[in-house]
Amino acid sequence: MNPALVRQAVGDVQAQWLVIGILEQEGGGTEPLGIAAVDPLLKRLADDKEITGAVGELTTLHEVAGVKARSVLLVGLGRREKLDAQAAFTAGFSASKRLSGKPRESVAVVPPAIPFPTLAASALIEGLVVGAHGPGLRKSESSRHPFGSLAVVIGADPEAAFEREWTSACGRGRIVGQAVNFARDMANLPPGDKTPKVLAEAFQTEAIAAGMTAEIWDEARIREEQFGGLLGVAAGSDEPPRFVVLDYRPHTNGPTLALVGKGVTFDSGGLCLKPAASMEDMKCDMTGAAVVAAAMAAIARLKLPIQITGYLPITENMTGGKAMRMGDVLTHRGGKTVEVLNTDAEGRLILADALAYAAEHKPAKILDLATLTGACMVALGPKVAGLFSNDDGFRDQVAAASRLTGERVWPMPLDDDYKEQLKSHVADMKNVGGKWAGAITAAKFLQQFVGVTPWVHLDIAGPSWADSDSPTRDAGATGCFVRTLVALVERAAGEVSDSR
Ligand code: BES
Ligand code: MN
Ligand code: ZN
Repeated sequence: MNPALVRQAVGDVQAQWLVIGILEQEGGGTEPLGIAAVDPLLKRLADDKEITGAVGELTTLHEVAGVKARSVLLVGLGRREKLDAQAAFTAGFSASKRLSGKPRESVAVVPPAIPFPTLAASALIEGLVVGAHGPGLRKSESSRHPFGSLAVVIGADPEAAFEREWTSACGRGRIVGQAVNFARDMANLPPGDKTPKVLAEAFQTEAIAAGMTAEIWDEARIREEQFGGLLGVAAGSDEPPRFVVLDYRPHTNGPTLALVGKGVTFDSGGLCLKPAASMEDMKCDMTGAAVVAAAMAAIARLKLPIQITGYLPITENMTGGKAMRMGDVLTHRGGKTVEVLNTDAEGRLILADALAYAAEHKPAKILDLATLTGACMVALGPKVAGLFSNDDGFRDQVAAASRLTGERVWPMPLDDDYKEQLKSHVADMKNVGGKWAGAITAAKFLQQFVGVTPWVHLDIAGPSWADSDSPTRDAGATGCFVRTLVALVERAAGEVSDSR
């Protein structure tokens, strides 16, 4: 879907559906739109308490007098002073999810003619793009239909139209929304259809289409490079592992950001087999890798002036005859040895190699994303990611970017005494701590491989997946933190180019 800007009086827009954003008013009712054809009707509906303008509220109207469009969908954006990227995304998503349930030739969206806060206008477009794309990848009849055309109507008055803002929002919103959909598609794919080879090639294809370079290591290369963790986890699967390196280098010098993503295409738990109910969603265990690939593709398409390298270890965690056993010891990239005392703590084993390898290249910062622990969901619930860091400044930057998009994170401690739980009698470390603080001991394990590089770890086990369907969210993969990574890099790139 390619949103195009249209400057026209709202009543004159010839579209099958006109989506009008409305704002909740202090003391009840909705703010008038300044549209003569609609305002009296809006007032009556608000007086009758039929509409409130709450975020994501949908009201359909047909044959509205003075409006040429066949039908109108009012969508609530909430209170003007609370209008942020999260509210705008949710509003765009719910309108689009509703309308894309059937094929629609033409949809036109009318945002309220007010200045939108940073990222909110783009987020509205992102929501429209993401809401028209569902999880039903293998349905024999598609249940979601992208619109024939999508217009953003900014009214005829050049003074109050915010044309420049909406032009850039349309471009950015489409790119970011499509990146979110790419990450969702990868995570929603059935696990048998995304073997490490297939997934690596899908990331490579997307990277090249976005103007990056992508290198795929096969099993022989992974062995040569001594990635003992990735090989250990892959040993139980008939499918050989892959390691993908994505490079976005718009200029040849300057600091590099390293992004690392967990790419477990299916996590059975290995010999420490998961119970069936816990295994149901484990095709999503490659969300970290997909989010890195998707965000980098968006960043490359937006041509942001920053250097990024993505490192994606990809494997299945299975129970084959060659599977790693409890008590086996793996030697990671860089030489550290790890005693495997739970084969289901596999994410940290493959990330260890990737983080060590990333750190060797001396990036300015390393950020990893991983569906790492159920313990993080116990701590923070299913919608909030755990935020771990060895660097207060970098941690604050990531938290600030997440506040801009509304994708939620919460800081977790990383004190050194948590490391004691990882002591092994036979190797440098074991791969699990004890009963308590499972998300923190996992992060503490990862920290051993980044050295002194400023590093952030996001445990996205909760937000990567939605168990249930709702008008404001689809069930299944969420593509979480693609939007936040783009916002983070935009801000960092702004700092870089400002200082030049
Ligand atoms: N992929 C899982 C974590 C996970 C759980 C992601 C739920 C998404 C939803 C990870 O590999 C895992 O199995 N972690 C174990 C660690 C334990 C064995 C120390 C867990 O959380 O139980
Ligand atoms: Mn596991
Ligand atoms: Zn896992």
